[in-house]
Amino acid sequence: MRMPLFRKTKRWVTIASAMLLSSLLLAACGENSPSILNPRGPVAAKEADLFYIILGIATFIFIVVEGVLIYSIFRFRERPNSPAPRQIHGSNAIEIAWTVAPSIFLFIVLGATIYYMFTLTDFDTGNRFKVNVVAHQWWWEFDYMNYPGSNGHPIVTADTMHIPLGATIEADLISNNVIHSFWVPALSGKKDVVPGHNNQLIFRADAVGTYPGECVEFCGSQHAHMHFDVVVDAPDAFNTWISMQQQAATPQNINAVKCTTPIPQSDLVACGAKFFAQGACVGCHGIVGVDLKGYDDPRAAGLIGPNLTHFGSRDLIAGGVLPNTPANLATWLSNPQAVKPGNDMPQLGLPQDQINALVAYLESLK
Ligand code: CUA
Repeated sequence: MRMPLFRKTKRWVTIASAMLLSSLLLAACGENSPSILNPRGPVAAKEADLFYIILGIATFIFIVVEGVLIYSIFRFRERPNSPAPRQIHGSNAIEIAWTVAPSIFLFIVLGATIYYMFTLTDFDTGNRFKVNVVAHQWWWEFDYMNYPGSNGHPIVTADTMHIPLGATIEADLISNNVIHSFWVPALSGKKDVVPGHNNQLIFRADAVGTYPGECVEFCGSQHAHMHFDVVVDAPDAFNTWISMQQQAATPQNINAVKCTTPIPQSDLVACGAKFFAQGACVGCHGIVGVDLKGYDDPRAAGLIGPNLTHFGSRDLIAGGVLPNTPANLATWLSNPQAVKPGNDMPQLGLPQDQINALVAYLESLK
């Protein structure tokens, strides 16, 4: 009699340790992982409230149904010589009860959902901070329509979206390719970014911090690598960021440097600018303030790559795949297709000293 009991215990120990292990793994999704249950603004907070209401109702139903089920299994289990159970097929009372009860619960969920839908942006006074959010395959562009840069065109950045604390944000969602979906779990629910139909997302951030965002509509082979960060700045820090972004880049004296191998350390930045201006980079990218074949508007249709004017000030590169560090940028420049297969940046086969110079130059663009 002892052995089976021991075996049973062993099985339960295995199940319990598997559950413990998986909960540890899930707990490893740190503080900064996107979660709708960590709201940092009124829209996300209301959506979290609705989640808890539905979870509460579902938990109540689960406990009642499972409780009745388990009670019945034990109380009415078959015993030796037990008579056939009472047959209740076609009982009107029971049929009505299990139709009406779920309807009541579903109507409560419907009512709560409609209530939250219509009060989601109650805080909106109409005084909005507008940002155009442009989805590319596979990176995000952010255009600050009310903040012209030195050349009169809006500030255009990529991968990292800065917004001011406490402002009502109107994100106009734009795509000229396929359908994407914009989602910052800590701040708001998802909204599709549809070509030919610009959606709007209204939200507000009530805590300074960096919040991860994701594309949540399948948009091609690198859909899973279309991250971005939303950085919520206190008003002063935000104004500092804006005035920095409004400035044009400082042109380098590219005619004064030779840039033959080995490039002296002191010429690295200027040589990077030279390789940038004279190489393939300018076919897709622009830098405001540097005369690159008459480049002016960062949103010009021909420029399919991100505007690099303040590249060095961003947290993320390559559509959010890599943190912005010199080593990561060098990896990206040496073989972008290995980092993110299928993206628009070709492998240029750049020699190492050109890569070093380009890294030095791009990271200097703060
Ligand atoms: Cu963009 Cu998925």
